[in-house]
Amino acid sequence: MLYLADTADVSQITRLCDLYPLDGVTTNPTIVAREKADFFALLHAIRKAIGPEAMLHVQALGQTAEQMIAEAHHIMAQLGERVWIKIPVTSQGIKAIKQLNQDGIKTTATAIFTPQQALMAAKAGADFVAPYVNRLDNICADGCGVVAEIAQLIALHQLPSRILAASFKNVEQVHKASLCGAHAITAAPDIIDGLLQHPLTTHSVRQFTADWETVYGSGTLTTDL
Ligand code: E4P
Repeated sequence: MLYLADTADVSQITRLCDLYPLDGVTTNPTIVAREKADFFALLHAIRKAIGPEAMLHVQALGQTAEQMIAEAHHIMAQLGERVWIKIPVTSQGIKAIKQLNQDGIKTTATAIFTPQQALMAAKAGADFVAPYVNRLDNICADGCGVVAEIAQLIALHQLPSRILAASFKNVEQVHKASLCGAHAITAAPDIIDGLLQHPLTTHSVRQFTADWETVYGSGTLTTDL
């Protein structure tokens, strides 16, 4: 399982990298626009925060394949290694994915809402396919069911694409996506934090501390003994 942070907030990315085994960052135009920053300066700051090995996913904006291909080459020239270009699964997007695959540029097919969109993108050579779980759940379309069917199709047709499940609003959605075949998930910082939160964990840690301190003194650690 790969964990990615779906944010362009550098302070949050730095915090998440410090705490968790984070594999990278995904951005989209909405997330980037929220930061109101110079685009490439922001992406360089994200790269610095995540380190040279982590994955960085950056979306192209063009409507035509030619525009998206040009953007992909431009972004790669600016940012270098370990970058995946996110391309929406329009007809022009699939054309761009095919070409970028031939050009040796890794792509993440995004804005996926059906298994057939994912299958087509995988066949075109997308490295990742990104189904939007919460946006599907919001229209009663069973986001994790779509992830499961994509996983089935990828296995059935022996395609090398991986599923990067995206668009989560709660931990249960992440859990279900992980169970039904997602190879990776990308989620906002609060959802990633939420994966660890449990009141019994908090209670247990408090109880351990209280019991320990009755004998060894307040604030004492094993390193003090
Ligand atoms: C994924 O590629 C998108 O950036 C993202 O996960 C969409 O999430 P949202 O539905 O919360 O906007």
